[in-house]
Amino acid sequence: MIIHSHFDVNEKGHLSIGGADAVELAREFGTPAYILDENVIRANCREYLRAATEEFGADALPLYASKALCFTGIYKIAAEEGMGVDCVSGGELYTAKAAGFPAERIYFHGNNKTDRDIRDAMDMGVGRFVVDNLDELTAVSAEAVRRGITQGILLRITPGIDPHTHRAIVTGNVDSKFGSAIVTGQAMDIVKKALSTKGVELIGLHCHIGSQIFDIEPFADAADIMVRFIADIKAECGFEIRELNLGGGLGVRYTEDDREIDYGSAIADIAKIVRGYCAEHGIRMPRVILEPGRSLVAAAGATLYTVGSVKEIPGFRNYVSVDGGMPDNPRYALYQSQYTAIVASKADAPRDYRATLAGRCCESGDLLGENMLIQKPCRGDVLAVLVTGAYNYSMASNYNRLPRPPVIMVKDGKARVAVRRESYEDIIRNDVL
Ligand code: LLP
Repeated sequence: MIIHSHFDVNEKGHLSIGGADAVELAREFGTPAYILDENVIRANCREYLRAATEEFGADALPLYASKALCFTGIYKIAAEEGMGVDCVSGGELYTAKAAGFPAERIYFHGNNKTDRDIRDAMDMGVGRFVVDNLDELTAVSAEAVRRGITQGILLRITPGIDPHTHRAIVTGNVDSKFGSAIVTGQAMDIVKKALSTKGVELIGLHCHIGSQIFDIEPFADAADIMVRFIADIKAECGFEIRELNLGGGLGVRYTEDDREIDYGSAIADIAKIVRGYCAEHGIRMPRVILEPGRSLVAAAGATLYTVGSVKEIPGFRNYVSVDGGMPDNPRYALYQSQYTAIVASKADAPRDYRATLAGRCCESGDLLGENMLIQKPCRGDVLAVLVTGAYNYSMASNYNRLPRPPVIMVKDGKARVAVRRESYEDIIRNDVL
């Protein structure tokens, strides 16, 4: 096992991903290529659903935050596994629709839904809009009234939590482009407005405190603040909030330094905390919704590259260049995100070669990692970066006119194409002049 149990070393000494030999996958599908172990995604969905149902009852609905990894096949898996989804754009809604995802299980997010997005979402009949602000409330209401419908909504609230300092900093994240803050009074204002606005039915509240969070405390802080606010709404408006969406954010193990989270027990802990606060404030337990993205899909993924050169600069460092880079994984360039890399054909050898993993773009910041320990590679070797299932394909670009890699789905050792490789023709498809 390397980081996660579906990454292993097979009898040939090669890296295997969900039972498939990574060197053979690279030969069959070319590089760069995103590989996904379908069983891992399904198992994660089942664990979230099992724990949520156990803790919150039969109508529990975990949502898959589809910004993490978005293509038709993933919505089919989410539908089959009984999940809801979070979509944030017309493009995600369109993809979900093309996959036949049941619209009533879609929560439509985003801090700036265009008029067209609003119309598209209502055409589809999405279950809930998560309304970000007053302008949007007005726009959603106007469209619903025009259609003679009542749209179920949640309001996005800013609880003021900084998840990485483990406490509620009341002014901390109030300065945010998302939602309405409780401390400024704007959250109560939008609640009152929603209650008196035609065409919308206020069902619940939503907050999302951050991503790659390993501790339960920030969720407990968020639950505390949100439940207090629900109690204030009841006291001031006589209205009971029925749904509380606490967003996504549970962390994933990318390197040996990260711990692994047991998502089932994390959900049980969060449930216990919410129940406690509801009892304390004398309010009925709302339907609690969690909305994970990364923790459902990240670990399932790996990206395969071919090594092009190994350049050792005496007194400085060793650059290993691969045939992809920031266009398929911008996360190191953007956030210095740490990954684990393996030379797939030498997976049984010790990782004792210190390297900077460089992409192929004409930009010195195009790196996939620095100070990484890998097996010493040579030109032509297949190199795998592990745990790339979330925010890689979905954040990919065509910078330097590099075609986006395919997404290959592995299940029980068998591989099939889920998204085909972009061609050069695809790249110029929209060039008109
Ligand atoms: N719900 C909302 C409203 C969100 O904004 C997000 C993520 C999620 C759920 C899912 O969070 P997760 O469980 O995946 O942590 N591009 C960044 C991550 C941005 C997350 C944005 N929102 C990255 O590559 O790390």
